[in-house]
Amino acid sequence: MSESLIVNNDISKEEKYKQLLPQLRALLEGENDVVANYANTAAALKQAFGFFWVGFYIVKQDQLVLGPFQGTIACTRINHGKGVCGTAWKEQRIVIVEDVEQFPGHIACDANSRSEIVVPLFDDRKEIFAILDIDSDQLSHFDQTDAFYLQQVTQILGNKI
Ligand code: SME
Repeated sequence: MSESLIVNNDISKEEKYKQLLPQLRALLEGENDVVANYANTAAALKQAFGFFWVGFYIVKQDQLVLGPFQGTIACTRINHGKGVCGTAWKEQRIVIVEDVEQFPGHIACDANSRSEIVVPLFDDRKEIFAILDIDSDQLSHFDQTDAFYLQQVTQILGNKI
């Protein structure tokens, strides 16, 4: 497989996801190392969309622990139900935050983050084992298109750590 990513800039967000998904599938196929795959997924999303921060938090006992990411340094541990990530974990759903300042309990790892989407990764027993967190430095950056395609990204990653 090729290690370069081709994503055009002059196309819609949806078209970009459609370009990215098969390349991501090819990039991850045949590699079962979780750190490698999560790291390349974070890099591919950052490269394709220029998001401010893209990364994973892994469920370890009763906390989310920072995993592979692209962006500025981030908080390493998040408790169940805390912040946007902990809320997505507790409520077992995708959370889209248009303005992080309006989200009670938002954890500000970086003051430049303005909006956020968190997509849980579910295993075969429908339990969350990790979450994908993406931050933007623009307000209202994320919508149902992101939710739809990022869910497909999490499915490419498989169903366990
Ligand atoms: N803002 C997140 C914390 C993680 S950082 O954004 C990387 C939250 O409120 O859960």
